[in-house]
Amino acid sequence: MINQIQNIEKEISDYQINDTADIEKFRIHFLGSKGLIKGLYALLREVPNEQKKEFGQKINELRSYAENKLNEYKASGTQVSDTVHEEDLSRPVGQDNLGSHHPLTIIKREIIDIFNKIGFSISEGPEIEDDWHNFSALNFPPEHPARDMQDTFFIQKGDEEIALRTHTSSVQVRVMENNQPPIRTISPGRVYRNEAISARAHCFFHQVEGLYIDEGVSFADLKQTLLHFAKEMFGEKAEIRLRPSYFPFTEPSAEVDVSCTICNSKGCNVCKYTGWLEILGCGMVDPNVLDASGIDSKKYSGFAFGMGIERIAQLKFKVNDLRIYSENDTRFLNQFKSAL
Ligand code: PHE
Repeated sequence: MINQIQNIEKEISDYQINDTADIEKFRIHFLGSKGLIKGLYALLREVPNEQKKEFGQKINELRSYAENKLNEYKASGTQVSDTVHEEDLSRPVGQDNLGSHHPLTIIKREIIDIFNKIGFSISEGPEIEDDWHNFSALNFPPEHPARDMQDTFFIQKGDEEIALRTHTSSVQVRVMENNQPPIRTISPGRVYRNEAISARAHCFFHQVEGLYIDEGVSFADLKQTLLHFAKEMFGEKAEIRLRPSYFPFTEPSAEVDVSCTICNSKGCNVCKYTGWLEILGCGMVDPNVLDASGIDSKKYSGFAFGMGIERIAQLKFKVNDLRIYSENDTRFLNQFKSAL
């Protein structure tokens, strides 16, 4: 037994460590669960009782010796002579695997850029909204169906019912409450609606709201601003048409179509063979809304519009299923790398 202990001690002190892999080999050979020192403890059972104490101590000392050696090797890790360099240190630094912007971010930035250039600032508001900013100040009568639980996610906060905003028009109200004309701003953001999720509808999506208030703002200003936007976004050949519509907060109101970018207005299944695609809602801000937000409707007039970012992205990138925007599928997202 004593010989065995001495042999192992010698083996430990002579052990050659050349690289980090050797350190692990050392550990397994001497200290591993099937290593030499474990073997000695097994032999201890056969040693006569009166010698057990002495041998036990010797084996413990041997184990400490091996452990100390191991720790020394680990601590001097970088000094262990790693003679083979696998890396070619003269090689140029490789391209990092860069992420890409989400297609909705790309389109949002393009929209912001177009309106920034013609003097619109950016404003933002909360996604959790109260009834006043989402509905009442926007001239929604109390019994209006859009307030129905079908369309709006409500949250109970104590006695008060608050909502997830259903449109970015709520930011219009906040801007008007806090600023006097001239106001020229756009408000990008996420909105929520209680809809069944399908290729054409989602429970959340993104809008950009536009608002322009000053003395003498007319419907012609609205139309020209939107035509400018359509040409910047979809190309010089893009045309728009306005169809009469209804929103409680604008009067008159219109829905705006852009000439189909997919078939060049010849007719395809995306534009349902009409040559036109709906892209936004708009109108002249209703005087009731101006007054409710502290702006003198006798002195000032203005226009507002609201567009869906997903919708514009669908037309630009020919994406036909809304759900794919929020599925985190890198095969889809990687395609937008070049649009950085
Ligand atoms: N808020 C409307 C919607 O979500 C769009 C809109 C904005 C219409 C501004 C008119 C003026 O459908």
